Amino acid sequence: MARDAAGWAQAPCATEDGCVAGSVYTDPGVYADELTEVFGRTWRLACHESELPERYDYRCFEHAGQPLFCIRGADGVIRTFVNACSHRGARLLAEPAGNAAKIVCFYHLWTYDSKGACTGIPRPVGYEAAGVKRAGLGLREVRTELRLGFVFVNLDDAAPVLGEFLGDALGQFETILGTQPLEVFHYSRNVLQCNWKAWHETNMDLYHEYMHVVLRKTQLKAMPMEDRRLLVYGNGHAGTGNLKAAYDGYEGFRGRGGDVPPLPGTGPADFRFSVLFPASAILSRGTVIRVDTVTPISARETLLEMRGLGVLGEPPEHRSIRVQHHNQYWGPMGRNVPEDMYAAEECERAFRGGAARWQLIARQENSTGQDDAILRAFYAEWARRTGRSPQDPLHKVAT
Ligand code: FES
Ligand SMILES: [Fe+2]
Repeated sequence: MARDAAGWAQAPCATEDGCVAGSVYTDPGVYADELTEVFGRTWRLACHESELPERYDYRCFEHAGQPLFCIRGADGVIRTFVNACSHRGARLLAEPAGNAAKIVCFYHLWTYDSKGACTGIPRPVGYEAAGVKRAGLGLREVRTELRLGFVFVNLDDAAPVLGEFLGDALGQFETILGTQPLEVFHYSRNVLQCNWKAWHETNMDLYHEYMHVVLRKTQLKAMPMEDRRLLVYGNGHAGTGNLKAAYDGYEGFRGRGGDVPPLPGTGPADFRFSVLFPASAILSRGTVIRVDTVTPISARETLLEMRGLGVLGEPPEHRSIRVQHHNQYWGPMGRNVPEDMYAAEECERAFRGGAARWQLIARQENSTGQDDAILRAFYAEWARRTGRSPQDPLHKVAT
């Protein structure tokens, strides 16, 4: 039976955490809190160390509305700084990536080194009367830690260390990522017309396997649903550890384009992933790794960056197969990622105008199969950090 307006406004779920109000995607106050209380206080996966192979290599990015850059110093250590000059705040590094032994501000030519020290000021004598000294003009350094080759950053100097934040969320990737050096061989970026959570939900929602033709043919029947194991780690991190794929089930993948060694600790048909709160994901399909990072641009626009990883220095014949395996699913023309982008944008379209009121995250299958436990764990952490209820996000609640 169809519902009238009052029925449509009612949450269609008896469990308190089984639905999420549409305004979590659209409300400007919610979004402002997310930037400061979620992104501003949690560890963000910024890049992989292989993207900064040489001394003075840098990469720029935005995080919680702030321009940042990671740079490998003369001592080989990767550090992160706010990409703003100490003088008048001009952006120091404008290219997305590059190499800068000396960082020179274009505006009045102040210079900085790779440890963030201010090393040069033209005609400094003019500052003497005001007591402005070069030693007090270094860049704002941002906490940086490496874990399994990934560079993580945190704007909050008071936040717990990375290991405490992650807990065991990357434990299932220790062998895969930590046995031999890996490198990024694929990088792509897309701006999605949706809230950042709408994308991240595609990585947390196992039930949407039905949307992907390729998953219907290769994954849904590859193992009994009750044998699947969902992993909820705490702090909003979660994943699955033991999914299987039967790649021959999809005609286009027959043979998957040749042989290449799977990454250590995994088999060629194994699929696992960890989603890291608030918005990163690491996925492994035996021979390749995909990494998602998500940067909110506004409440309704999101930058999605994707990386594909293979073995550093492997033979070209192995690399070409790995690229093929990656792109079959996750490339810009693959059978998976473009469909997820479409889903994220379509799901949110009706929330913007208030037509859709709720989304359901109520599936319970004892943390197996297509349980929504990962989504519920995410929203529990989101509520704890924003002080808002996912069911009634426009009213702040005590945390
Ligand atoms: S703003 Fe950078 S030197 Fe003036
Ligand atoms: Fe998907």
